[in-house]
Amino acid sequence: MYGIFSDRERTVTNIEKTESTNNDIKTVIYSTNAPVFTVIRARTQTGGRGRLGREFFSPEGGLYFSVSFPLTGKEKNIPFMTLLAGLAVSEAAEELTGVKTQIKWPNDIYLDGKKLGGILCELVCGKLLTAVVGIGINLRILEEDIPPELTDKMTSLAIEKKAIPDEDALIKAITEKLDGYIYENRELFEVREDTVSAIRERSHSIGKKVKYTVGDEVFEGIISDITNTGAAELTLTDGTVKEIFCGEITQ
Ligand code: BTN
Repeated sequence: MYGIFSDRERTVTNIEKTESTNNDIKTVIYSTNAPVFTVIRARTQTGGRGRLGREFFSPEGGLYFSVSFPLTGKEKNIPFMTLLAGLAVSEAAEELTGVKTQIKWPNDIYLDGKKLGGILCELVCGKLLTAVVGIGINLRILEEDIPPELTDKMTSLAIEKKAIPDEDALIKAITEKLDGYIYENRELFEVREDTVSAIRERSHSIGKKVKYTVGDEVFEGIISDITNTGAAELTLTDGTVKEIFCGEITQ
């Protein structure tokens, strides 16, 4: 089924400053009838976006890029894409630096209990359905560059005094891993148990006590598992088990 996407050569377009690389890649997708395989990277973003419409602080010193993955539209498990991207980021960073990061369900990369990066997956319905995976990783950001309201929450490889990878090599490794998961392993059709196990093994969420807010309701419980559909399994204090696909989880 992915034979039509066998030519996946991507060039990286480098921009000094932009609003959001996810927005830039969407403009490219809307401008063509052809499958878009490309990467756009910016040194800073003025309107970096995160999940739930939040701002993603994007000063100089971070790596900000978006990658496009044309889809057939017949994929069964698109929500799994965010976790696959988290796994690709965590594995690639470990291979290039030796630093083991964790995946906080559904889309954050954590190091030593603080946010090191985030992933924003968006589906674009252009001439072809295309997934846009936007990734932000705090590489060289220093403590003094972080606004006071974020100092308890975010960190960077420089702050943690860890090795900093070559940025081009990191983009390449993450993109190749995601290509492998999506087009070769076809994990959006059939999730493989070994991939789910790798995500569980890097999970920052399993075993954590959380509050889950949906509409006006707040549930309290423990994240007991990450399922093979990309959902988080929340075991409530009364023993009821809920599968969560999106929404707000706070620890
Ligand atoms: C989150 O923290 O909720 C996700 C953050 C995703 C940030 C990346 S940086 C590159 C791309 N462009 C954006 O505007 N967002 C993503």
